[in-house]
Amino acid sequence: MAKATALATLLMMVAAATLAVVPSPARAVCNMSSDQLMTCQPAAAATNPTPSPSADCCAALSTADLPCLCSYKNSPLLSLYDIDPDRAMQLPAECGLTMPANC
Ligand SMILES: *[C@@H]1O[C@H](CO)[C@@H](O)[C@H](O)[C@H]1NC(C)=O
Repeated sequence: MAKATALATLLMMVAAATLAVVPSPARAVCNMSSDQLMTCQPAAAATNPTPSPSADCCAALSTADLPCLCSYKNSPLLSLYDIDPDRAMQLPAECGLTMPANC
């Protein structure tokens, strides 16, 4: 549990830092707010992912900047959110969206 607690603490710090710098309504990354990102987190989780993304997540992805998300594929930011990059990159397809080529 210590690791999970440390991760949760880190996550809150990241969220707080994000809220502090991004004007409301926050577009944290790639036209997705941190709230929207969190709707997708369970489906892309590195540990115990849900089988498919939620409707909220798909709605968020439909207005997200997908080419921009591609550039986050190898970002250490993903592990902060306990997100598995490969799973994350499959989410748009699971929502019926098309990822850009060369992603
Ligand atoms: C950004 O997201 C908002 C909704 O969250 C949407 O209305 C807007 O069209 C999006 N912008 C782009 C460039 O996709």
